[in-house]
Amino acid sequence: MIVVTGATGQLGRLVVEGLLERVPADQVAVVVRSAEKAADLAARGLQVRTADYSRPETLDGVFAAGDRVLLISGSEIGQRVTQHQAVIDAATKAGVALLGYTSVLGGDLATFGLADEHHATEAAIRASGLPFVLLRNGWYTENYTGTLGQTLEHGAVFASAGEGRVASATRADYAAAAVAVLTTDGHQNRAYELSGDTAWSLAEYAAEVAAQSGRPVVYRELTPEQHVELLLGAGLPQPFAETLVDVDAGIARGELAVATGDLSRLIGRPTTALADTVRAALQQ
Ligand SMILES: NC(=O)c1ccc[n+]([C@@H]2O[C@H](COP(=O)([O-])OP(=O)(O)OC[C@H]3O[C@@H](n4cnc5c(N)ncnc54)[C@H](OP(=O)(O)O)[C@@H]3O)[C@@H](O)[C@H]2O)c1
Repeated sequence: MIVVTGATGQLGRLVVEGLLERVPADQVAVVVRSAEKAADLAARGLQVRTADYSRPETLDGVFAAGDRVLLISGSEIGQRVTQHQAVIDAATKAGVALLGYTSVLGGDLATFGLADEHHATEAAIRASGLPFVLLRNGWYTENYTGTLGQTLEHGAVFASAGEGRVASATRADYAAAAVAVLTTDGHQNRAYELSGDTAWSLAEYAAEVAAQSGRPVVYRELTPEQHVELLLGAGLPQPFAETLVDVDAGIARGELAVATGDLSRLIGRPTTALADTVRAALQQ
């Protein structure tokens, strides 16, 4: 059985769709917090198992010996090491055949704070002795195009990433890589550095949005202090605002610009170009 956690999330849904193109539905199970949210998947013949990363007792029995499991990293920053450890413990107890994990591009070379929980999870996976595969995902292009409406409204992309570049890819690209490692052999105990084929700067992103929309859009480079201030003004909680600004410092240092080609090799096609993702977002 192939088992996907976080299957009702944005990446998880794409992974499940990709799996269903390759394997019958009765060979796929999902582990979700809300069975209701996964009702459509149950209706399509997938096994739906409910569990919460924060409640280890709910994870007991969700995996079986021989399963190929994808642990999609959680979204509750600050709680994820304990949460992921609970999933790893359940997978170890069951004796799964492969544990995949959505980590961070660069592994230990990523020094921004958001990467810390991924480093700790990778270490826990290695310590478990389970066969593993690390999908070290770079940035989603949607992290930017997701706020395209605001960007057009302000005529600006606000960030504190200096002239740093981002080798982003779409969630669909990263999902295709997960599908590849879950459905083909030869990935055991490997770490893939997954990112877009081409790194772009925020000035280039702003220029792309301007060119395609026909509206003026520029990159407004902020200091980290100004950036935190802006995000607080937009209603983000202070710790999250600081986390995002800290990521921008990582981008300025070039930590999310790494383009190894691992992603396009795994999925057998080029990653989705920035221009195409911008075009799709503008059409929505
Ligand atoms: N590479 C990037 O640019 C980037 C950006 C943002 C996040 N990420 C990481 O990549 C992951 C997947 O991205 P995404 O876009 O799919 O995020 P997402 O839409 O927020 O999905 C997160 C998934 O994790 C599940 N989850 C969270 N806490 C859980 C818990 N305590 N127990 C069980 N399940 C839990 C959620 O369940 P529900 O469906 O019930 O909410 C959801 O299915 C994120 O969670 C985060 O770790 C990466």
